[in-house]
Amino acid sequence: MMNKSNRIYLDYAATTPIVEEAIEAMYPFFRDKFGNPSSLHRYGQIAEAALEEARETFARHLNCTADEIIFTSGGTESDNLALRGCVFARREQTGANHILISAVEHHAVSHTAEQLATHFGFEMEILNVDSQGIVSPDLVQKRLRPNTALVSVIYANNEIGSINPIQEIGKICREKGIPFHTDAVQATAYLSLDVELLNVDLLSIGGHKFYGPKGVGVLYVRKGTSILPNQTGGGQEWGLRSGTQNIPYIVGMSAALKFVQKNQALWNKNLADLRDWLIHHVLDQIPNSQLTGHPTKRLPNHASFVFEKVNSQKLLALLDAEGFACSSGSACKTGNPSPSEVLLAMGIACDLAMGSLRVTLGKDTTLEQLESFLPCLVEKIDILRS
Ligand SMILES: Cc1ncc(COP(=O)(O)O)c(C=O)c1O
Repeated sequence: MMNKSNRIYLDYAATTPIVEEAIEAMYPFFRDKFGNPSSLHRYGQIAEAALEEARETFARHLNCTADEIIFTSGGTESDNLALRGCVFARREQTGANHILISAVEHHAVSHTAEQLATHFGFEMEILNVDSQGIVSPDLVQKRLRPNTALVSVIYANNEIGSINPIQEIGKICREKGIPFHTDAVQATAYLSLDVELLNVDLLSIGGHKFYGPKGVGVLYVRKGTSILPNQTGGGQEWGLRSGTQNIPYIVGMSAALKFVQKNQALWNKNLADLRDWLIHHVLDQIPNSQLTGHPTKRLPNHASFVFEKVNSQKLLALLDAEGFACSSGSACKTGNPSPSEVLLAMGIACDLAMGSLRVTLGKDTTLEQLESFLPCLVEKIDILRS
């Protein structure tokens, strides 16, 4: 067993370590710059200036205007506000009550849509995906109805890393005048979030997936997209998300975004090389193993597999005992013995889906780490199969 300092983290899709730049940027806002951004005095003005600078940073990155950026408490809240806010406003204005989401959404989207259907009278329809977890724009075209209130398709999937054709799907929705939301929580560190290019009306971001703090996020809301707020109160964030803004975390998340901007090109090359090395060697050295998700249209840091006759919970425990932190799918599912809905939606059999492994790389991942991980993985799978 490794000692603690030798632990190797291979679960960057679950969360990422916060970067020093973000911690440093946050620090003064816990101390002397503690003001409430809504206050009129100097303390408030300092906090407000930091808030608006962070907003500008996100607006530039997303190619939108600052008043289209709403700060939230994270990816889950952004998804909730996008779905609930949009469909309630659309139903009130137009009577539309049909919600179209993909079969591979994060629970923050799928459970929200389910609740809207079960308790609030909306009709939810699921867009099937292909065997690589990708939504076809043609299918979206076919499923859109005059009464569709919202379409939501995940940008890059958290369990299998597959990247959806957001630009094309967005174009189809735009032509029909139907609001389109994408969950870009996993995509932020690696893919373009240019909302003009992507043709999206609503886009969710969560700070801790790109080296920022937990408990803070962004929802982009295109001007002209009606949203009924989920949270009412003091009217912050243009009335769409009341509550005193979490200035230290917003500032930290903005610093993390700048860190992403500096490193994204490098990660897209280096991490993809490491990912491909890992995928190649796992498939080569472990019989009856399969890659899940698309072989090339996938996040550069993301490798995911299924192994026949392996229990993923036991595999994760054995790997952890050797100092390797991985996941079986989404972090929220860890400890849940039922197979992943995402894998089942891709047509993977239930038994096989129980043997899933997600290995996600990040800024500190090295080839040496993967070289020590690989033989350990091979050995543990052998043990579980024998
Ligand atoms: C794609 C996706 N959406 C939403 C979320 C929810 O983020 P949070 O738990 O930080 O609110 C996650 C987190 O795992 C995610 O991967």
